[in-house]
Amino acid sequence: MIVGAIESYEIQYLNELDSIYPRREIKNIFFELLLYIKRWNKIDYLLNKNKILEKNEIKFLSESLRKLKNHIPLQHIIGYVLFCDLKIKVNEHVLIPRPETEELVHIIYNQNKLETSLNILDVGTGSGCIIIALKTLLKNTNCKGIDISQKALNIAIENANCNNSDIDFKNQDINEYSVRPNSFDIIVSNPPYVPIRELKKIRTNVIDFEPHMALFVENNNPLKFYHTIAEFGRNSLVNKGKIYFETHEDYAFEIVNLLKDKKYKNCIIRQDLQGKNRFVEAIKYD
Ligand SMILES: C[S@@+](CC[C@H](N)C(=O)[O-])C[C@H]1O[C@@H](n2cnc3c(N)ncnc32)[C@H](O)[C@@H]1O
Repeated sequence: MIVGAIESYEIQYLNELDSIYPRREIKNIFFELLLYIKRWNKIDYLLNKNKILEKNEIKFLSESLRKLKNHIPLQHIIGYVLFCDLKIKVNEHVLIPRPETEELVHIIYNQNKLETSLNILDVGTGSGCIIIALKTLLKNTNCKGIDISQKALNIAIENANCNNSDIDFKNQDINEYSVRPNSFDIIVSNPPYVPIRELKKIRTNVIDFEPHMALFVENNNPLKFYHTIAEFGRNSLVNKGKIYFETHEDYAFEIVNLLKDKKYKNCIIRQDLQGKNRFVEAIKYD
């Protein structure tokens, strides 16, 4: 191997990050960084791995390695994630959009793509990823996103502008939110759902760099957001309006039960690509 060749940096990443990330993830991180600095995909890398990097590229890879060793998430290093093919800016004030959430967007899109006009609300919009993707994919929608965090909303607004999405964002606590009856055809939410007792199981790059307000709920009331949003939907959804939730895999059945208690029908649990119970949907009838 040529000293200073690109592949030597891959080896350095694998050696120095192995106590923090699994090997496959380190390789993915390295490829993401190469894509970022050189626009290279994996094939480009294989064809060029003996080449020597430019000075500024070496500096970037070294600084990134230092940050990764300090548990700074890759997405914060490059400043964005690709979500449903959209560039979504992220920082410490928003949850980093997850691949499962892209699956939720696709479920909603596939079920509603033939509708001609929809009013959609995203509760706990964070970076705005869900509502911006829906606005982009579904034609003729009025989209609204609410979040209790103004700092998160500032990022959501920036993301909507960068993606030419006209979305009405509002700084609002869902517990105090009221609208006219029949305001929405669809309510979607990926609310905080991790019981705080699970904090110990979660990696430092999540705990230290993502807002706890976006992640955690009290141990004794893990479904509180689902109760509140389902109750809110009883009044604010039109007849046959739909509610879509991302959930903790352990609570999907309980969420179905709470929706049934609130007279929602056609309650369905869907798995994510890893086979975990991750999404719950239901229809409200008057
Ligand atoms: C799990 S994050 C989801 C962010 C984004 N929708 C996504 O899927 O990546 C939950 C979001 O709910 C917001 N949130 C927490 N409590 C809230 C409340 N009481 N009312 C409205 N939003 C709230 C948080 O600020 C956070 O942005």
